[in-house]
Amino acid sequence: MTRGEAQKRIRELSLEIREHDVRYYAHDRPSISDAAYDRLVHELKDLEEQFPDLRLPDSPTQRVGSAMRTAFQKRAHAAPMLSLESLMEVDEVREFDERVRRGLGVERVQYHAEPKFDGLSVELVYEDGLFVRGATRGNGEVGEDVTENLRTIRSLPLRLSSDGPAEGGRGLTAVRGEALMPLAEFAALNRRLIERSEEPFANARNAAAGAVRQLDPTITASRKLDLYAYDVMHADHATFETQSAMLATLRDWGFHVESNVRLCDGIDEVVEYHERLAERRDSLGYEIDGAVVKVEQRGWQKRLGVRSHSPRWAVAFKFPPRQEVTRVVDIVVQVGRTGKLTPVAQLEPVDVSGVTVSRATLHNQDEVERKDVRIGDTVRVRRAGDVIPEVVEVLRAHRPRGAEPFAMPRSCPVCGARVNRVGAYHLCTNGLACPAQLAGHLEHFASRGAMDIVGLGGKTVQQLLNAGLVKDLADLYKLTPIDLASLEGFAEKSIENLMNAIEKSKRPRLDRFLFALGIEHVGDTVARLLADHYGALEPLFEASEAELQEIRGIGPEVAEAVRNFFSSARNRRVLDRLTQAGVRPMHAARRRGPQPLAGETVVFTGGLERCTRPEAARKAEAAGARIASGISRKVTLVVAGPGAGSKLGEAKKLGIPVIDEDAFLARIGEG
Ligand code: IVH
Repeated sequence: MTRGEAQKRIRELSLEIREHDVRYYAHDRPSISDAAYDRLVHELKDLEEQFPDLRLPDSPTQRVGSAMRTAFQKRAHAAPMLSLESLMEVDEVREFDERVRRGLGVERVQYHAEPKFDGLSVELVYEDGLFVRGATRGNGEVGEDVTENLRTIRSLPLRLSSDGPAEGGRGLTAVRGEALMPLAEFAALNRRLIERSEEPFANARNAAAGAVRQLDPTITASRKLDLYAYDVMHADHATFETQSAMLATLRDWGFHVESNVRLCDGIDEVVEYHERLAERRDSLGYEIDGAVVKVEQRGWQKRLGVRSHSPRWAVAFKFPPRQEVTRVVDIVVQVGRTGKLTPVAQLEPVDVSGVTVSRATLHNQDEVERKDVRIGDTVRVRRAGDVIPEVVEVLRAHRPRGAEPFAMPRSCPVCGARVNRVGAYHLCTNGLACPAQLAGHLEHFASRGAMDIVGLGGKTVQQLLNAGLVKDLADLYKLTPIDLASLEGFAEKSIENLMNAIEKSKRPRLDRFLFALGIEHVGDTVARLLADHYGALEPLFEASEAELQEIRGIGPEVAEAVRNFFSSARNRRVLDRLTQAGVRPMHAARRRGPQPLAGETVVFTGGLERCTRPEAARKAEAAGARIASGISRKVTLVVAGPGAGSKLGEAKKLGIPVIDEDAFLARIGEG
């Protein structure tokens, strides 16, 4: 590769990885597999090694730990939350055993083998036995305070029970565990999301992470997480001789503790346990991605010690990824609530570690093009313990002659109306006149988390539409018992229940109402931001895009969608009719964070020491600033750190104020 080519590729890769980081960390919605992501990072690292001077100053390879959302308070952990070295091969596990035995100078070691939960690692802090604080792992030293969300998890003890011999009821106790979404709950959640034309989660771990990092604890509560404990990070008044004893105590304290564990005499038993566990993997009810192997004796653990980020006394013995090869027999297009067309690959059914896979989402045209998936292609599909498998890659060598690139249809496959392309998406232009859209719209409106009209699910919505009883949202409030009596399966009791549920939904919380309207890009989080900011529905009618964008957490795309929604005459008519029917969202208390950087346009240049560049940018945005990448007359403030180059010079030339990182943090109140 020439220098020029390398430079171009380094730019491309850096950009692409950064986009994936945002999807993964900020939205918990990755669009590529971990393996595909790793390949991109490796390619970039390789190029940067060959051409060190071409490395971009903000290259994603230079990031330590992960970016963190700023919506939550940061919390230092009671003790560092270490990670584990990952091993894939039996030989590597045997080498680990040799290192351990050499380190201890013993012949044989007992290992405690446990499932490796594939969820979100959390720290749970108890003071005198009372749950006071919970945090995500973050970078291992500092995490995000998600106390209120964790409190909603039923299997988290709010007070440590004192049945057992070890005292957790005095002083400080910090427990480490994993928040998980049970696979049944995960499947149900994804079904709901798909029904609402929203992007489903790629796997249960992302869904759990999304739930724990919700701004609204009631949403976390509705997602029904489970929590398993596996480590006592700190305890003022309890000591343990062995790993098994520690787990027994965690159980006594009232935690959910996995019982599919095994005390192994020597490494052969560990290997056997790992094999057995892999066979049972699909019957556990939640996702695991391997076994964790720990030295049983705590005294020996101490002697072996820790490296910078992981202990020498434990490793993760992972399962091979769940991937299989199959063929794409067709690509069909589905239409969702927002009119979004989603291409779905129909596959020759294939067994991917115990589950038959026959469909895989292709997301949108850009994704199809990027992976270049065509009908007839042989593809590698992956199931990340989830219901919606993805196409990882096309095996080009197997492409049949004459296979044509896939193109989205020009007309809606459901109603035949024209299709418009907006960014990455193709949208049916028929609005609520498209049956697919109206059905999805009504179902979303009635769903839990929205208007919560119990008894108005997909089937009933379809019946109402078929009978011509409902043509828009407001028609729901015109329904009479006589109307319902004409529907199949409706008897006196069910009619009364549905009428009551509809009546009850007339005083929704403002954020739920906004969410229920099904405005593009307005999920529960954005709806909450809008409700907090405006307090009532009416001010939103007049809100301009610029005004909307001043709200922390709302970007140009969302602002445009909100503005478009409220300026549509048709939508305003529906809102009027809803009001006439007696639907009145409750006013919310206005809350507005301080915006110390409102009106400023900020450029960052040079290194930062106390946070990463994306974190700093998000903080600045949250404080009301706009971020620019280069110096221009519009820029009002430059934050410069060590190694700042030409931008600093340009800024000085234009007389733009320059401050350092400390001064920046002080200005946004984090000094
Ligand atoms: S023990 C010092 N045990 O796997 C050892 N970790 O990088 C601390 N994990 O994020 C970890 N199941 O949260 C341990 N049974 C288990 C586990 C487990 C899942 C997670 C852990 C960490 C990751 C390893």
